[in-house]
Amino acid sequence: MEGLRRLEYRGYDSAGVAVVTADGISMAKKSGKLANLIAELAANPLPASMTGIGHTRWATHGGPTDKNAHPHVVDDGKLAVIHNGIIENYAPLKADLLKQGYTFVSETDTEVAAVLLGDIYRSLTEVEGAAGSEGTGALLTEAMQLAAQRLEGAFTLLATHAGQPGIVVAARRNSPLVVGLGDGENFLGSDVSGFIDYTRRAVELGQDQVVTISANSVEITDFYGAPAQGKEYLVDWDAAAAEKGGYPSFMEKEINDQPEAVAQTLLGRSDIDGKLILDELRIDAEVLKTINKIIVLACGTSAYAGQVAKYAIEHWCRIPTEVELSHEFRYRDPIVDEKTLIVSISQSGETMDTLMAVRYAKEQGAKTVSICNTNGSTIPRESDAVLYTHAGPEIAVASTKAFLAQITAAYLLGLYLAQLRGNLFQGQIKDILADLAKVPAKIAKVLDNAEQIKELATSMADTRTVLFLGRHVGYPVAMEGALKLKELAYIHAEGFAAGELKHGPIALIEEGQPVIVVVPSPRGRDSLHSKVVSNIQEVRARGAKTIVIAEEGDESVREHAEHVFYIPETTPLLAPLLTTVPLQIFALALATAKGYDVDQPRNLAKSVTVE
Ligand code: M6R
Repeated sequence: MEGLRRLEYRGYDSAGVAVVTADGISMAKKSGKLANLIAELAANPLPASMTGIGHTRWATHGGPTDKNAHPHVVDDGKLAVIHNGIIENYAPLKADLLKQGYTFVSETDTEVAAVLLGDIYRSLTEVEGAAGSEGTGALLTEAMQLAAQRLEGAFTLLATHAGQPGIVVAARRNSPLVVGLGDGENFLGSDVSGFIDYTRRAVELGQDQVVTISANSVEITDFYGAPAQGKEYLVDWDAAAAEKGGYPSFMEKEINDQPEAVAQTLLGRSDIDGKLILDELRIDAEVLKTINKIIVLACGTSAYAGQVAKYAIEHWCRIPTEVELSHEFRYRDPIVDEKTLIVSISQSGETMDTLMAVRYAKEQGAKTVSICNTNGSTIPRESDAVLYTHAGPEIAVASTKAFLAQITAAYLLGLYLAQLRGNLFQGQIKDILADLAKVPAKIAKVLDNAEQIKELATSMADTRTVLFLGRHVGYPVAMEGALKLKELAYIHAEGFAAGELKHGPIALIEEGQPVIVVVPSPRGRDSLHSKVVSNIQEVRARGAKTIVIAEEGDESVREHAEHVFYIPETTPLLAPLLTTVPLQIFALALATAKGYDVDQPRNLAKSVTVE
């Protein structure tokens, strides 16, 4: 249950657990959050057992009901199966199984996989006699291999059978699965947080592999039974890092983790002369010098991090940089070749849309770099190189610290390319790194002054719509601020490029409409400050209530705003690392005032492992 609690952020439409006992499988499952299952188990405990599987669901096929919850138990109550992903060919498989006389109780694709596995297991038993011993030779392993060969789409399937107590067998294709190596106990999890209380030793599984674990063994094969290897690694954080640390929510903790997240991402990546040393970036320097285009692939908040990075990378490296939503990219016949550098950004490293886009780009010959927060996850493993963000585990569904760490890592990548290609002098790089090094303390200052924005947000709990405006790097920040508000407070929110407003969206402005504006620094030659101040005046003239994020000392905005929140001075390109923070706090406080669960907003899941 502790493992499920830690994994609940991945889906919370239902939860269930099945254990193997001498009498068969015992199971409990409940729709809704894990708390419902915990209550059910308190009222009706399951018998003691040494082997079991558990699941929290993010509904795809079939609504979030008790019946559709996993595990699905088939084969006369002897086989229990859980599943993540989507079985794309479930319809023809189901039609076949129906013809054979099987019946189904749920609307899920998972039950189809379970019945198929049960059918194969049953025929193997008939051919090979009673179920065999534990290990690769186990019938359940063989049945899983054969079932996996027939499934299409994305799946992590786990099964346990009363006829083979003591083992759990899993298959993975395009969906995450890691093994935890304990002492006299072994684990499987969608990610390491499922077993981090028990062990930090983990094994990455490859694509299309089947693994059979018992208390004392871990055996890996491909879908055809050939022995295979996984890669063992040590998780670089412990259970304490995945706790709330005294904060009321993971999200609040993670917002407050941000100085550390940025500092850790910078740590050890440059020398005293300001020379960047990105050891992990194992792509030949000569190849990187020939790159003539960068495409950043990401979704959601990670895509906004990419949009911020685009301004810096183009400015520093003079390499044309596109940012594309991963799910749009590969369906539009994009122009990608050996001279294209694909930079994927993903907190989880498992986002299916991004994984598929990266694979597609690789097939076209592009070099791929992953900016990722999750060690051992699929996207970095399948990329040519990785630059880890060291933000620590991000549990709240709404991404916060990962966003700042992603921008930081992407900036390091941009500076590294500029260094390699000679676009910037070493002294310039050193200065930018010195400015970056000051950012964590400045974020801490923004956090220390959070009270004022919390109060404002709380007073706005009844607001029905909020607009966010920004220019240049402030534009993706505005979109990120709007996304945070949508996903946490369920309020309509839009982020606009401030200059675009007059081309249409200004028609939305009516008396009292809250508009949050990210104002650039007034310092510097090419400052966009005056343009943004004009945009504020335009919306204010039409009745908007303006809330402004501006740089310390910028008194000129006061007369145009109902509320001003100041952030410490920094350079324009580094400003998103500060201006985002009040917007995160605003969304958190407003959602809290509405009484919503900020860690697990409705309809969402942390890792989106389906397309
Ligand atoms: O794990 P990833 O960074 O690939 O996830 C991408 C998006 O699903 C994610 O950023 C999502 O938009 C967050 N819920 C935003 O807070």
